Amino acid sequence: MTVVDMHTHFVPENWPDFAERFGTPDWPWLRHTGAGKGMLMVGDRDFRPVYEALWNPALRLEEMDRDGVDIQIMCATPVLFGYDRPVDHAAEAASIFNDLGLEICSHNDQRLKALCQVPLQDIDASCKEVSRSRANGHIGVQIGNHVGLKNLDDEGLVTFLQHCASEGMPVLVHPWDMLGGERMPKYMLQWLVAMPAETQLSILSLILSGAFERISRDLKLCFAHGGGSFAFTLGRVENAWRQRDIVRQDCPNPPSSYTDRFYVDSAVFSEDSLRLLVEVMGDERVLLGSDSPFPLGEQRVGTLVREHSEFSSERKQRILGLNALEFFGL
Ligand code: CO
Repeated sequence: MTVVDMHTHFVPENWPDFAERFGTPDWPWLRHTGAGKGMLMVGDRDFRPVYEALWNPALRLEEMDRDGVDIQIMCATPVLFGYDRPVDHAAEAASIFNDLGLEICSHNDQRLKALCQVPLQDIDASCKEVSRSRANGHIGVQIGNHVGLKNLDDEGLVTFLQHCASEGMPVLVHPWDMLGGERMPKYMLQWLVAMPAETQLSILSLILSGAFERISRDLKLCFAHGGGSFAFTLGRVENAWRQRDIVRQDCPNPPSSYTDRFYVDSAVFSEDSLRLLVEVMGDERVLLGSDSPFPLGEQRVGTLVREHSEFSSERKQRILGLNALEFFGL
């Protein structure tokens, strides 16, 4: 059986000084703080302590061997997106990070694969970068779950998703730039409360707007972190759709009927949550994703699925690898 971890992140070891190149402040950069350690910076502010597995392919492969992972699919860290920048700056940054991602993969291109990023504030530039990246060897694209005030049902973003469908580029939607931050300054509450809500918001924006009625069924779409709050709150949404016309006005079918239009990763960290997730989404629509090598990721990748006390071995095989092989056409 081939085990595929489809949600991991990379940060290149070095990249150009964007603040200097573009003449604008607060770009991310990596401050190397000691052997194998670094601090991801945004301008002069500490963003997140990080370690070598983010940029060193040899160490990634060692950790994959340790955890029994055959293929790892990497994407950049959302703080590198630059969606609030002028489009030419974000486009250049995206192409630089995309090329650096492939450089990490080139260490072992059978086991390390990459998703590209795009300057999502501009749909034409995003479509262009997706096509360029596909030709260069990226196997999909990671996007943030919103661009400023635009949710995924925004007309331009739907056009971009259609382009990905026609190019055969699977899309991983990653929450970022979390809502309500001013009320969540401590305890990583933005990651614990707002992030799952962001993902749920994106899924519901596609369902309730009727966007899934317009988007091609060829689109391969996956949401990170088990789809955030979606699975647990689907009953509430379904009830609202039945009871209130303002909920169903643009959505012709019950919300639960759209779970065959997208996938989720398995990063939920509890047997009970994973059981509910598979019951809601089905065996075919949950993909192993660890969010490593970050501290909030699964520390021994695949353990939650492998050691699940109730899952059949067939279900485990689907989640651990088969589903991802099909999703990415590997
Ligand atoms: Co992640």
